[in-house]
Amino acid sequence: MDNFNFYSPTEFVFGRGRENECGEYVKKYSSGKVLIHYGGGSVVRSGLLDRVKKSLQGSGVEFTELGGVQPNPRDTLVYKGIELCRKENVGLILAVGGGSVIDSAKAIAAGVPYDGDFWDFYSGKKVEKALPVGVILTIAAAGSEGSGDSVITKEEGLLKRGTGSDALRAKFSILDPELTQTLPAYQTACGATDIMAHVFERYFTNTKEVEITDRLCEAVLITMVKETPRVIADPDNYEARANIMWAGMVAHNGLVGVGRSQDWNSHGIEHELSALYDCAHGAGLAVIMPAWMEFVYKHDVMRFCQMATRVFGCEMNFEDPEATALEGIRRFRSFLHSIGMPVNFEELGAKEEDIPVMVKKLRYGEDGKTWGFVRLSPEDVTEIYKTAVRAQV
Ligand code: NZQ
Ligand code: ZN
Repeated sequence: MDNFNFYSPTEFVFGRGRENECGEYVKKYSSGKVLIHYGGGSVVRSGLLDRVKKSLQGSGVEFTELGGVQPNPRDTLVYKGIELCRKENVGLILAVGGGSVIDSAKAIAAGVPYDGDFWDFYSGKKVEKALPVGVILTIAAAGSEGSGDSVITKEEGLLKRGTGSDALRAKFSILDPELTQTLPAYQTACGATDIMAHVFERYFTNTKEVEITDRLCEAVLITMVKETPRVIADPDNYEARANIMWAGMVAHNGLVGVGRSQDWNSHGIEHELSALYDCAHGAGLAVIMPAWMEFVYKHDVMRFCQMATRVFGCEMNFEDPEATALEGIRRFRSFLHSIGMPVNFEELGAKEEDIPVMVKKLRYGEDGKTWGFVRLSPEDVTEIYKTAVRAQV
């Protein structure tokens, strides 16, 4: 196991009706005005926004609001948010929504106290200072409620880039599983795929003897394989929703990845798809991640066998471990298909002729390769996209 620090300062407030306490938590972590930040309207339709305002009013907190965050959040709204916060002297940003809203809130939070262009933070500069952010989560997916990360798309050139800093971790995150019951099945499944991908990015490691984090990863993955079909079949199943919501947090606040090298190539490769086609991040991952697995499994066949046997219940074939590894990958893709995810370019709405553009936009190190479990050249990435074009269950 490698040396590590683990810092997860967010106060998680979990359970039914807990969003009605948001006024209290806002007061605990800030003074002054609040910016309520939200997306395309689901929180208006569900009545959540009204309940949030009522709670803030009940605690005597003044607020202003900025809606309209799009999935794959854009820099243009971030600039508006920064301007609004400065004008209104906002002291805390309350993100009410999913990963896109939270990431947009984090970007605004970093931009307000910064003299330069906030995009600097998405081009390599580290965020040192930010306004406090609070979260009311409405979809279990990105894990931004517990992570220090934010991913924003620059409209000009469709560049999707991320930043990470402990200064961006939410002060509090309210997680009420009931809020996720209004999600369409497709969004629920996209979220589930992203949660599993966050674990796999950490599971595929070159660090030896990391049994505790291996087992934590497998616990989250097995939970997702069990609970996702339950909520797809019965969207109002509170207990299954609750398990998935907490799994989404555990998958991405860092806990299951400490002390081990990680991968993150599937995320990088996927971000080029969602930047270009504006598809859901989870759907893009469903197409990319099994294709990535097929490309790299020979690097550590036994680790893929471990996934196959422990997570997907495959029998170990000691005569032919590669067959076990491939069967695990096959079952993963077929699981994604069973919950309604696309498995190839056509189902996602992506085009083979755009592969060179995406390969070129991806970031590589000085030696021309990506980082991670297996370092990939542009030719390798091309091969992964091509496998994703043809993939079938
Ligand atoms: O905009 P509204 O109307 O709210 O609708 C949203 C949106 O259309 C809808 N939705 C959310 N909660 C709902 C609901 N509809 C009905 N009922 C509800 N309760 O769902 C759609 C998707 O929302 P979005 O916030 O985009 O989803 P998600 O949480 O998957 O976030 C995706 C973004 O997070 C980034 C992704 O790249 C993508 O941009 N990521 C952020 C990470 C992080 N900050 O740590 C890590 C991830 O790997 C990921 O890259
Ligand atoms: Zn993700």
